[in-house]
Amino acid sequence: MSTPVSRSLTVLMNGVTGRMGYRQHLVRSVLAIREQGGLRLSDGSCVQLEPVLIGRDARKLREMADRHGLTQYTTDLDEALASSPAGCIYFDAQVTHAREAALEAAMALGKHIYTEKPTASTAEGAHTLARLAREAGVKTGVVHDKLFLPGIAKLKRLVDAGFFGRILSLRGEFGYWVFEGDWQRAQRPSWNYRAAEGGGIVSDMFCHWSYVLEHLLGPVRAVTARAVTHIPRRWDEQGRPYDATADDAAYGIFELGGGVIAQMNSSWCVRVHRDELLELQVDGTEGSAVAGLRNCRIQHRATTPMPVWNPDMPVRERFREQWQEVPDNHEFDNGFKVQWEQFLRHVLSDEPYAFDLTSGARGVALAEAALRSSAEGRRIEL
Ligand SMILES: NC(=O)c1ccc[n+]([C@@H]2O[C@H](COP(=O)([O-])OP(=O)(O)OC[C@H]3O[C@@H](n4cnc5c(N)ncnc54)[C@H](O)[C@@H]3O)[C@@H](O)[C@H]2O)c1
Repeated sequence: MSTPVSRSLTVLMNGVTGRMGYRQHLVRSVLAIREQGGLRLSDGSCVQLEPVLIGRDARKLREMADRHGLTQYTTDLDEALASSPAGCIYFDAQVTHAREAALEAAMALGKHIYTEKPTASTAEGAHTLARLAREAGVKTGVVHDKLFLPGIAKLKRLVDAGFFGRILSLRGEFGYWVFEGDWQRAQRPSWNYRAAEGGGIVSDMFCHWSYVLEHLLGPVRAVTARAVTHIPRRWDEQGRPYDATADDAAYGIFELGGGVIAQMNSSWCVRVHRDELLELQVDGTEGSAVAGLRNCRIQHRATTPMPVWNPDMPVRERFREQWQEVPDNHEFDNGFKVQWEQFLRHVLSDEPYAFDLTSGARGVALAEAALRSSAEGRRIEL
């Protein structure tokens, strides 16, 4: 017998026509929760979600609402905020530069906030948002999806198990070739390559590296980075050429609390010769691991081979085969849906939640420090 729905919760969803807003947040999270009959809480009650689609194009919103059997959509954010109850949720997956003002307006009317990253364009703006949330007494959550990748979850399991002994370093490779858009279409939106529209790989990815490093190994204490624009000319969605003003690759060193050194290469100008688009290698005195999106492999101290440098001899060792696969041990649900459920439980049942606007602000601050490090050619302490 299904649990009776005891109440409903309005979720204002802004930016649902975008890549992230539609696929991950609307379809795979909010609609998936609706289809399972709502979210069951620890007291046995069930809460159903009532999404209101918000965007700039009424035709697209209407088509989307029709496609999914929804009735509420609007192009008027202010009206949607004013006519919905305080205590409902405002969700934001708009382009980054439109986010800050919308979050401020929503909090001023007592809405809880769930948002994509980065939360703001500057660290000052991000910290201001966190302060406004405290003053308004609303709950906030920021997407931190990389922690829900099965490979990263397994890496965290290894850290918690003490597998590595003393952890020395992390080296990470993230990226793939993003087409320029002239002879093959670009697979990312053109605003990603325009600084004035909140683009840039540092702003996009360093907020992820902030919570990933903090959660796995310790908070970032200092950063040294070089951000560059390797490809200065690209073609937009309409096939028009434009100047790419934002950084499209960044090479960073992060010093973590606890003494671990992390290095991350983040690039949209690299061709993939790895098993996955993101790979993190952690080396410790007792063992090492390489984690990707889905898989994670380990090599223990006791099974570490002894390679000898000799360029006169052909390579005989099959290094990749000397590693052991970490088992899944459980089913991994869609990470975006799991995050929605955790945030909803935080709002509805007061369950603890670490990834609020203050955590989001640490990510924006790290990105800002990395850009400053690059511009000034020096190490920046946080
Ligand atoms: N968590 C993640 O892994 C992840 C991945 C990609 C993007 N993001 C974040 O999600 C947000 C959206 O990114 P996306 O890749 O879905 O972008 P997108 O271009 O596909 O979507 C942008 C959305 O914002 C709306 N919008 C509002 N004002 C706009 C304006 N002035 N110009 C253009 N669009 C405008 C668009 O209509 C659209 O709905 C960004 O903040 C980005 O940083 C997060």
